[in-house]
This record gives sequence, structure tokens and C-alpha cells, in this order.
Amino acid sequence: MAGRKNVILGITAGAAIYKACEIVRRLKEAGFNVIPVLTEEAAGLINPLLFRALSGNKVYYKLFDGGEDWEIEHVSLADKADIILVAPATANLLGKIAAGICDDLLSCVITASKAPVFFCPAMNENMYLNRITQGNIARLKECGYKFIGPKKGMLACGKKGTGCLEDVDVIVGKVKAGLLSSR
Ligand SMILES: Cc1cc2nc3c(=O)[nH]c(=O)nc-3n(C[C@H](O)[C@H](O)[C@H](O)COP(=O)(O)O)c2cc1C
Repeated sequence: MAGRKNVILGITAGAAIYKACEIVRRLKEAGFNVIPVLTEEAAGLINPLLFRALSGNKVYYKLFDGGEDWEIEHVSLADKADIILVAPATANLLGKIAAGICDDLLSCVITASKAPVFFCPAMNENMYLNRITQGNIARLKECGYKFIGPKKGMLACGKKGTGCLEDVDVIVGKVKAGLLSSR
């Protein structure tokens, strides 16, 4: 639909992946056009068809799709993005972007885009506090990438700690604010 802002929602293979469904719904309610881009690992954790149904858009997860479009998908998605939100963002994805690795569709879209990028990390606390992960986050912040969360809470591993996906309300609020400030 014309006039709606395009949110590319990057979805990686973290335990908090189920919360991405709620994020799609809430962003749509807020009037955004949500285009889901999953990593292939994420597409193994959850059926991508669910995001097709929730977003009303094609779901992307393969770098070499072999579709009929003439467009180079990662470039056209990168250009289409008014904002890129990655929720949940795995330690793996953060490490890849920090290192300039583009070996799947989502990492190519993020690297090829000039749109503001918000990462919502979610992982086990030790993974989050790992010095490499922390170094990757610091590097990404230096390069202008924004972070939302993680927060403290009950982790998927059954322990309390820092590494939970930030609340959906907070994420959606920051996306709205991010779009206003990028105009
Ligand atoms: C059930 C399950 C849950 C996982 N949860 C997380 C997680 O919350 N955060 C994380 O960084 N990695 C998690 N992992 C590990 C990632 O899935 C793994 O690093 C994967 O290679 C990430 O791929 P992607 O970044 O391309 O999506 C989990 C793996 C499994 C099997």
C-alpha cells in the first residue's frame, strides 16, 4: 500500500523467535508494511509460512531464490527498507555483521542498506556476556547500529539473567521513534 513505511523484520534462529510473530502483528497494527526476512536457520526453527500469513507479504529467506523476479533480491530489499529491525538477533548474526560477513540473505540486506538498523539481541547470558559478543556489539554501535535490549529475565535455558528479548511494546515504540527521527 502506498505511503506505508516498510519495516524489514530480520528474524534469526533464537529461542525468542515465537515473539517475532507478535512483533509482526503489532507493527502491522501500527500501520507499517512488514517484510519478513528469515535466516535459513530461523526457517528451520519455525515455518516461514506463518510470517507470510501474519505479514501478508512474501517471506524471504533464501539468498539464491531462483524466482522469476529480475531484481537482485538483497539489493531491492535493502533499498525498500525504511528501517530494519532484527528481532530476535542471535550472537551469530551480530558477529557476522560486525565482521562484514554476508553469506545469507539477511546479512546481505543489512550490509547493503542505508536504512537505520535496530538489533534486538536475545541469547543465553553467557553468550551475551562473552567478550567476543560484547566486542561485536561495541563495534556495531561504533558503526551506528542501534540496540534495543536485551533485558534481564527468565532465559530459555531456565536460568535468570540478561539475554531476554526486550518487551514487544518497547521494541515497537523504538521502531516508531526511529522512523520519526530518520525523516
Ligand atoms: C532451540 C535453539 C535455540 C537457540 N537459541 C538461541 C538464542 O536464543 N540466541 C542465540 O544467539 N543463538 C541461539 N541458538 C543458536 C543459533 O540457532 C545458532 O547460532 C545458529 O547458527 C544461528 O543462525 P542464524 O544467526 O543464521 O539465525 C539456538 C539454537 C537452537 C537449536
